[in-house]
Amino acid sequence: MTLDIAVNDAAPAPNREKPHLPDAQTVTSVQHWTDRLFSFRVTRPASLRFRSGEFVMIGLLGDNGKPLLRAYSIASPNWDEELEFYSIKVPDGPLTSKLQHIQVGDEIILRPKPVGTLVLDALLPGKRLWFLATGTGIAPFASLMRDPESYERFEQVVMMHTCRTADELNYGRELVENLKSDPLLTEIYGENFHKRLLYYPTTTREDSPLMGRITDNMTSGKVFSDLGLPAMNPEEDRAMICGSLAFNVDVKAVLEGFGLREGANSEPKEFVVEKAFVGDGI
Ligand SMILES: Cc1cc2nc3c(=O)[nH]c(=O)nc-3n(C[C@H](O)[C@H](O)[C@H](O)COP(=O)(O)OP(=O)(O)OC[C@H]3O[C@@H](n4cnc5c(N)ncnc54)[C@H](O)[C@@H]3O)c2cc1C
Ligand SMILES: NC(=O)c1ccc[n+]([C@@H]2O[C@H](COP(=O)([O-])OP(=O)(O)OC[C@H]3O[C@@H](n4cnc5c(N)ncnc54)[C@H](OP(=O)(O)O)[C@@H]3O)[C@@H](O)[C@H]2O)c1
Repeated sequence: MTLDIAVNDAAPAPNREKPHLPDAQTVTSVQHWTDRLFSFRVTRPASLRFRSGEFVMIGLLGDNGKPLLRAYSIASPNWDEELEFYSIKVPDGPLTSKLQHIQVGDEIILRPKPVGTLVLDALLPGKRLWFLATGTGIAPFASLMRDPESYERFEQVVMMHTCRTADELNYGRELVENLKSDPLLTEIYGENFHKRLLYYPTTTREDSPLMGRITDNMTSGKVFSDLGLPAMNPEEDRAMICGSLAFNVDVKAVLEGFGLREGANSEPKEFVVEKAFVGDGI
């Protein structure tokens, strides 16, 4: 399989017009993964503190001169000097039809008020932490997978990511690969720490080594036997879900079938849920 990755690291054009944006941050790198997915990094406001897994509002100035903002999960861990985001490109999307063209040196708007339910504090202590994501729903887990706190609280972390096609898995695949030699995590937990991170990427509309929806692979027990784990149970397992509304509803039902209960910041339980986007008509 060929990785079709174009890196846009061009220096900013010197005479590119830059509007003075409120809450402006500067783009430091952009990487296009497919024709509908890209990631980018921006400078981090000195005062911004967040818990890995949270989201912020980011955007650009709209045609009417007013900020056009959307919710975005911060994909970088909370110790990172910069902020990373992983984005869809919706062809006629008000924000992403423009955001997909950002270049190094451009400015975006970032409202420094992080919030969200996918935080470690919203879960009771347990043995294993499952991250269950489709598409760009992997973004909050890209943050949490790189946060030492995840491995401090849990013996094992399992990342299940499902997309329609194999190229849509590449951002997560590369991130997990890089974690094997992550300097911070190996320093804290030793060279073999990466064995505690189990990665289970699947596709549903193109052949790849692992196939099928997350819901099906859990209810059939395939993921547990493939990874050599016991079936999910409320004593040992904790989970975070991030995908489309339909995905979230279906996974929630599967987890409840295993006896897990939905929690929140104010009332930690066995799993938490967040939408990866607000779908049409919802
Ligand atoms: C809590 C939260 C966190 C989010 N985090 C991210 C993130 O980290 N990365 C990201 O790309 N988006 C994320 N989103 C979605 C994001 O807020 C915007 O919807 C997205 O950037 C598209 O903006 P738009 O203005 O171009 O189109 P919109 O008008 O916002 O969306 C148009 C349509 O595109 C589809 N769509 C929107 N976002 C996605 C997506 N991510 N994947 C698949 N289809 C989508 C939906 O059908 C939607 O109705 C998040 C949304 C929420 C609620
Ligand atoms: N991905 C693309 O190539 C593509 C291209 C053009 C436009 N779009 C549009 O963009 C929007 C989002 O597409 P997307 O591919 O990012 O998201 P998506 O349609 O939610 O699919 C992402 C993954 O989640 C799986 N999934 C969907 N619903 C599920 C559920 N209820 N339970 C378990 N698994 C579920 C899908 O499996 P299944 O394949 O089995 O559904 C797929 O593997 C859609 O409106 C789509 O029409 C997508």
